[in-house]
Amino acid sequence: MPDVPDPRPLEGRRLLLGVTGGIAAYKAAVLVRLFKKAGAEVQVLMTPDATRFITPLTLGTLSEREVLIEIFPENADGSWTKHVGLGLWADLFVVAPATAQTVAKLAHGFCDTMLTATALAARCPLLICPAMDHDMYRHPATRANLERLRSYGYEVMEAAHGELASGLVGEGRLPEPEAIFDRVVAMLAGATEAAGSLAGRHVLVTAGPTREALDPVRYLTNHSTGTMGFALAEAAARRGARVTLVAGPTALPTPPGVTRVDVVTAEEMHAAVQAHRDADLVIGAAAVSDFAPEAISASKIKKTGAEMVLRLRPTPDILAALGREKRPGQVLVGFALETDDGPANARRKLEAKNLDWIVLNDPKEPGAGFGPGTNRVTLLARDGTVEDLPRMPKRAVAEAILDRVAVSL
Ligand code: C5P
Repeated sequence: MPDVPDPRPLEGRRLLLGVTGGIAAYKAAVLVRLFKKAGAEVQVLMTPDATRFITPLTLGTLSEREVLIEIFPENADGSWTKHVGLGLWADLFVVAPATAQTVAKLAHGFCDTMLTATALAARCPLLICPAMDHDMYRHPATRANLERLRSYGYEVMEAAHGELASGLVGEGRLPEPEAIFDRVVAMLAGATEAAGSLAGRHVLVTAGPTREALDPVRYLTNHSTGTMGFALAEAAARRGARVTLVAGPTALPTPPGVTRVDVVTAEEMHAAVQAHRDADLVIGAAAVSDFAPEAISASKIKKTGAEMVLRLRPTPDILAALGREKRPGQVLVGFALETDDGPANARRKLEAKNLDWIVLNDPKEPGAGFGPGTNRVTLLARDGTVEDLPRMPKRAVAEAILDRVAVSL
C-alpha cells in the first residue's frame, strides 16, 4: 500500500517567515497559506521595503497574527526585546524572498529591523531563500555573503533559473512556494531527530493547582492556571515522547497526543504521580497546595459570628518523594515560585528535593508567574549552572526548558 502523506505535517510547529523587499514578496502570501494549512503557527516579519511590494494587511490576515516590521515600533508596549522571545519561540525561521541587501545584512550581523534582529537572536535553524536579478545573484559579493551564511549553519536554498522581473532570463528566481514548503518540512523533521528529541521517552508532567475541600462548598487553592505545565506536555509530545499529564482543576484542553489524568487534591496528584513514577523525565509544574484542612466537614460550615479557626495538615511533597527514590538516569525538574531571595531558595529546594533542574520564577514580577501569558524564568541546574531567560510566551519557555533538559537524558 502506498504511504498516505500527512495532511498536516507542520501541526503545532512555529514558523517565522521573513519577507524582504523584492518583487517575489508576493509569493509570501502563498507560503503563509501553505504553512497554515499544514498546521503551523506563522509569525511574519517584514522589512520596511517589503511593505512596498505586499501589504502587512494581506500577510497579517493570512497568518492571523500582526506582522512585525520595526524593532522600535511607535506603539511599543515596552517589550522591545520581542526579537529575543521570537527567536526562542520559533522552530524554524524562513527568509523568503531574501534580497541581496538582507543577505548582506544577515551575513554581517546587522540588526536594524525586526527581521534582522530576530535572525541574529534566533536559536532555531534558518532557511534563506535568495531572490534577485541574475547579475546581483552571481556577483562575488552576494556569493561570498551566501557562503558566509552557510558557514553559520544556515541553509541556503539556491535560486531557480527562469524569467526575472528585469526581463532577463537567468538565475535569481525565488523557488516555487511548494518547493520552499517541502524544504521546511524536511528541515523540521531532521531537526527533531537531531536535537532535543524525546522519542521513546516517557515524560510525566504535573500541572495546575490542587484543591483541598473544607466542606461541600468551600476549598483552598491558588492562582495556578496550568498553562506552563500544559505547554510543557504539548512540547514534549511534539518531540516524540509518550506524555502523561497529571492535571489539577483547570479549564485547559488536553494537548494533542497527551494522556491526561485529572485529579483534584494533592493526595490524588501524589497517587497519580506514583502510578507513573517509571517516567524518564518528571516535570513538577503543578502549584500543589502545601496544606489541606485536617478534616473535611460533611456539611456546610455554619457562620456563627464567632472567630473561626482552621486546622491544616501538610500534604505530601510529590516531587520530594520522587527525589528520594530517584533511579539512575531519571531526570527530575521542579518549579520554584519565589517572591524573595529567589536563586538561593531555588538552589536549596533543588538540593532538598534531589532535583536535576529547577525553574525559578517570581509571581510578583509583571509578565511572570501565574496566568495564561508570558513567563520570565531562571534555570538552575544541579551542576551549578544558572541561566536567565528573557520574558517570552509560556510555550517558548517550555521549548527552552526542554531544549536544555533533553540533552541531560
Ligand atoms: O516547596 P515548593 O512548593 O516551593 O516546591 C515547588 C516544587 O515542588 C514544584 O515543582 C511543585 O510542583 C513541587 N511540589 C510538589 N508537591 C508539593 C509541593 C510542591 O511536587 N506538595
